[in-house]
Amino acid sequence: MIFRRDRSAQDAPQSSRGKPVDAAGAGLPRFAVDATDDIGDVAHDMREQNPARARLALADALSASQPVTSRERLAGRSDTLQTLIAAIEQQRAHVVLYGERGIGKTSLVHVFAETAREARYLVLYGSCGVEARFDDMFRTFASGVPLLYNANVSPTADEAEHNRSFADLLGPEPVDPRELADLFQKVVGTRIILVLDEYDRVADPAFRRDVAELIKNLSDRAARVQLLLTGVASNLDELIGFTPSIRRNIVGLAVGPMGDGELLEILSRAEEATGLAFAPDARALIVRMSGGSPYLVRLLGNRAAGRALDDRRTVVSETDVIAGTEAVLAEWNSGLPRRVQSQLLRPEVRRAWPLLIAAARASGTPDGWFGVHDVHLEAGGSDPAGVARTLDSFIGEIDLFDREQPAGDREPRYRFRTQGLAQLLGLSAALARAGR
Ligand SMILES: Nc1ncnc2c1ncn2[C@@H]1O[C@H](COP(=O)(O)OP(=O)(O)OP(=O)(O)O)[C@@H](O)[C@H]1O
Ligand SMILES: [Mg+2]
Repeated sequence: MIFRRDRSAQDAPQSSRGKPVDAAGAGLPRFAVDATDDIGDVAHDMREQNPARARLALADALSASQPVTSRERLAGRSDTLQTLIAAIEQQRAHVVLYGERGIGKTSLVHVFAETAREARYLVLYGSCGVEARFDDMFRTFASGVPLLYNANVSPTADEAEHNRSFADLLGPEPVDPRELADLFQKVVGTRIILVLDEYDRVADPAFRRDVAELIKNLSDRAARVQLLLTGVASNLDELIGFTPSIRRNIVGLAVGPMGDGELLEILSRAEEATGLAFAPDARALIVRMSGGSPYLVRLLGNRAAGRALDDRRTVVSETDVIAGTEAVLAEWNSGLPRRVQSQLLRPEVRRAWPLLIAAARASGTPDGWFGVHDVHLEAGGSDPAGVARTLDSFIGEIDLFDREQPAGDREPRYRFRTQGLAQLLGLSAALARAGR
């Protein structure tokens, strides 16, 4: 449908919800949408040729910057959620969720937390930063556990006990894993899940050692407290290190690429929320280019739909998807340092484009390092010595990579110097493969 302007509909003062407003204050701006998240009847607005609310609904339904936080918003992932619940409930294990950046770990954790709370678990969420300290993090967790769940406190205890928490039982010294496990062993009347999201970001080896020690101590004491760790990694060892002592107490769960059907579900939900429709070839193209990433489906879907709204159309076409993707690439490119932008235009770099794309795929490790062999595997067919020569030619005057020579005669390893470049190469390859 094409939007037509209809003057008569605009003559009377209208609120953004289409209701008449008082004359006093009519000229002042208002919020378009209630803070209740009730977006209202978008389809009606679209018929009335007012895309403002569809735009808001779009920002909400296809936001690529926020995780999903409720069950109704989560597309697919039913099997992973099922396995996660079983690991916590039946195996009483500690769980490590790992997967690529943006694959949906935090979203899954939020929905899992909601589900566990429905079953009366006490779920406490903490996001790890580079600077995360064991003492701070676990004191904060302890302060979220009411003292009434302590076996030593009577449920009929006086009023004062009601406002106290497990943190009040910790001494002034930095907490250590053994002391914490002793404390958590006293939990009665509920079960507790402590979520440590973004665990890959923790830089302090002592933090990781203490967490491993805590897992061991909690398991030995059969405490009613379980840890759920998430992070960017391609396997369990990358995230928790080689810690044989806790291996049997941990279930590792990979969060992999989403299936086409699940990704299409994200777009269908956005259609319901916005009153827009994605043409079949537009949906197929978005899903193909996303490579299983819900983040990319949202980002590309959002941009494509935004273009349709700009033109006051309700059907999002394949052309919108291509133009939206090109806009994303241009934005990512302009976010690179100028030096890198101009290097990418050099003929020797353009000639090596397929190899750079193979390197981008090989760089999907948490720390971004890869070897000649990884690139060779991704590139398929080219000779390893040639791969090494090309990578080495981009260290120096053209400085796309860092190179590190490990001790001994092990292979050197490489890393993209500029953040975001690998992602840009990956998406530009996906767009090229889509036939443009
Ligand atoms: N199952 C899903 N259904 C709908 N949208 C999803 C789903 N999973 C993830 N998303 C969307 O994909 C994007 C990335 O999700 P999320 O932040 O959960 O990933 P992540 O793996 O935690 O990322 P990071 O590695 O950066 O921490 C978000 O915009 C989120 O809303
Ligand atoms: Mg996350």
